Amino acid sequence: MTDRYAVFGNPVAHSRSPLIHAAFARQTAQDLSYEAVLAPLDGFAGAIRDFVAAGGKGANVTVPFKEEAFRLASRHSPRALAAKAVNTLRFDADGAFGDNTDGTGLVADIRRNLGFRISGTRILLLGAGGAARGGILPLLAQGPACLVIANRTVEKARALREEFAGAVATSQTSTPVPAAALVATSFSALAGREFDLVINATSAGLAGAHLDLPPGLFAPDGLAYDMAYGRGALAFLEFARTHRASRLADGLGMLVEQAAEAFCVWRGVRPETASVLTMLRGEQ
Ligand code: ATR
Repeated sequence: MTDRYAVFGNPVAHSRSPLIHAAFARQTAQDLSYEAVLAPLDGFAGAIRDFVAAGGKGANVTVPFKEEAFRLASRHSPRALAAKAVNTLRFDADGAFGDNTDGTGLVADIRRNLGFRISGTRILLLGAGGAARGGILPLLAQGPACLVIANRTVEKARALREEFAGAVATSQTSTPVPAAALVATSFSALAGREFDLVINATSAGLAGAHLDLPPGLFAPDGLAYDMAYGRGALAFLEFARTHRASRLADGLGMLVEQAAEAFCVWRGVRPETASVLTMLRGEQ
């Protein structure tokens, strides 16, 4: 019998996940279906319950339900616990297992697809919401020289720093970063500083808003990366281009990589991603 999977979000009509997972299933000869489910804003848990009752085996979760999915899961992966958000649910006899593949997908895209070596670099992470939170430990695990978290509301960046400085001290990664290398700051305090990798994890672009950033942030050979893709990434990448970032990337590769990781969580098989990313780029 065909196993059912779905992405739950609101809105969700624009989601590329059904296309991506259909391609993964064809490629790995897995017998599964994958649909997009528009869950009511106050009805996520009910929508998941109905899906499981109808035989659903797993789900992806997108905006605005990732925190609720975290609360709904009865067991969590370490990376979901760190992110306090879940984008991947697997349903079995023991209930719902919650995982978060976003940060792993981000790092996989930057390293493998873009060929950018993170180790030893100066990273600027813009934003202190759910998207930024999920990226912190996977980025630190790569051994950067420093990771600066900058946010419009600086208190939120400081809170993240406090939380993850402890995690860094007990990191099981092969190249633990000294806690001093994790810094929280405001946008204005970035003036005069330069970074090799600048990642936009704010939701400003999705709302059509510009970030109030100082000039001179991008080092020569610097990579500007927006976790959003399509229209949501335009404003930041245009800022980066006019401020002499050498390389620009949107988050389409991250989307494909986090999906591949979720597929692996469900099916135990890792799909190849390059051809799927090429297919999506062709449709953009
Ligand atoms: P997500 O889950 O996408 O991270 P979120 O948790 O609501 O969404 O976080 C949104 C992030 O985008 C926050 O860091 C927010 O900054 P504040 O903490 O100051 O609100 C940031 N953000 C949204 N719009 C912004 C804007 N116009 N300028 C600067 N930062 C913005």
